[in-house]
Amino acid sequence: MKVSVKVPATTANLGPGFDCLGLALPIYNEITVEETVMPGSGIEINIIEDTETYDILSIPKDENNIAYKAIELLYNFIGQSVSDIKITIKTNIPVARGLGSSASVIVGGLMAANKLLGNPADDAVLLSIASEVEGHPDNVTPAMFGGFCLASMEDDGSVVYSKISWPDDWKLTVIIPDYELDTMIARSVLPESIPVKDSAFNIRKCAMLVDSVYRHDSEMMKKCLKDKLHQPYRERLIKGFKELTEFLENKDDILGCVISGAGPSILVISEKNGFEKVENEVVNLFTELNVNCDIRTLNIENEGTKVI
Ligand code: HSE
Repeated sequence: MKVSVKVPATTANLGPGFDCLGLALPIYNEITVEETVMPGSGIEINIIEDTETYDILSIPKDENNIAYKAIELLYNFIGQSVSDIKITIKTNIPVARGLGSSASVIVGGLMAANKLLGNPADDAVLLSIASEVEGHPDNVTPAMFGGFCLASMEDDGSVVYSKISWPDDWKLTVIIPDYELDTMIARSVLPESIPVKDSAFNIRKCAMLVDSVYRHDSEMMKKCLKDKLHQPYRERLIKGFKELTEFLENKDDILGCVISGAGPSILVISEKNGFEKVENEVVNLFTELNVNCDIRTLNIENEGTKVI
């Protein structure tokens, strides 16, 4: 027996909501988990590249694979150990680009394995395991449930989350460069502590951001996509982020521009045809900076992981 699921990409943080806010995007990985026919055959992990654009060689095909690690924790939860299993990951989400490719394989592996086992774990358990493997809940939560999510990992490892309706006319443009950035590196440049005034800045921006989404308030949203907790430290790793932020400042119908997750992709949020009006100039800006990138304007993905 085998189970296949389709899991969306995600963009986390949205500026001030470090490790807490995220939303799902309609780019999908497919993960299939099956019991292998021959007992004693062990673990088999296959990676299939759906688009030829992204390097998948860095994805481990042994016990270090994160989908496998998540599945192992699920088996431990039900008091069993994994023996013979085959995991197939069909990738379409760019790897190491800040678009939740790791979250998608963790969530996909877990949800497919859970179904294969007869659904012994509920969503709360799956979300907690996924967040433990990923280290934070802001990508795995929207990968599971879709939409715009707020998520908090509690001290006991459980995750509380909430999904808030995203305005239909707020478009999401992802600028995906042709180079990778390892999340571990992007986290290693963050300081151990943050000045109280910077923390206070982020608390108020994050609170107002959630309210702007809830009330569909574009004018307030424009003031909220700002951050002093991670972006100032990561900016030097993200080619073109500073220049693009300056270029988009005060442009009509552009709500803001943030690093997507840990980068290096950049997320621009706009309304009406805000991004379309400046797209050519943005392309020129990145060309002048010698950065090749793929630019995609998308709607939010509201379904989350689906069995296919
Ligand atoms: N919140 C995470 C970070 C997202 O910014 O490091 C990346 O996985």
